[in-house]
Amino acid sequence: MTPHIRAEPGQIAETVLMPGDPLRARWAAETFLDAPELVNDVRGMLGFTGTWRGHRVTIHGSGMGMPSLSIYANELIATYGAKTLIRIGSCGAMQAHVALRDVILAQTASSLSTPSSGIFREIAFAPCADFGLLRSAADAASRRGTGVHVGGIYSSDVFYDERPDLTEIMTRHGILAVEMEAAELYNLAARHGCRALAVLTVSDHLLTGEALPAADRQTGFAEMVEIALEAAFASAG
Ligand code: HPA
Repeated sequence: MTPHIRAEPGQIAETVLMPGDPLRARWAAETFLDAPELVNDVRGMLGFTGTWRGHRVTIHGSGMGMPSLSIYANELIATYGAKTLIRIGSCGAMQAHVALRDVILAQTASSLSTPSSGIFREIAFAPCADFGLLRSAADAASRRGTGVHVGGIYSSDVFYDERPDLTEIMTRHGILAVEMEAAELYNLAARHGCRALAVLTVSDHLLTGEALPAADRQTGFAEMVEIALEAAFASAG
């Protein structure tokens, strides 16, 4: 047990999918895993462990924002031995050629700061995805015919941003989209020798103001779960 996860040792798999929303964790576990078992519900943050094509998988919520994700990812890695962590979530597009429902694989995650900034101090560390996971996810997405973009994203600390100049700078530097968790997930993976990737669907568009209706969000979410699972076990056969 940890302060935020009540699972017993051994109840968490080495591969963990992390949606922001705990109810999405429940839905994904019940939809995609065989014999999903509830392994955490502390503070309403749900985690489930089951199997997918015979492989053990945990699907555990991260909450919103890097400080929340950092709590769960730290405990999953340090106490429970998680080795592969894949964020599945939504993002806001920052490029005209990126459309609603497209999938983005975050090769890098820029930020103004992360919970690791205090450790890195003067270092502008470059948080990046695990290449093997990234390549496998790109292969899985193209097999499915999903519109997929691979590139840099921006992990922000604010959803209600009052700095439009930041969006402009990110867009000008080719950043594909904004979300709020990936950079710290990549930092933690680097620090602890884990594999990490963020698979995101575009739920809204910062340049056009468009947003996906709720029903379409579920469809996009299902696609991300499948891409994440296929990527996680691509070399396991
Ligand atoms: N900003 C930050 N995070 C997000 C957004 C956004 O516009 N859309 C989805 N996640």
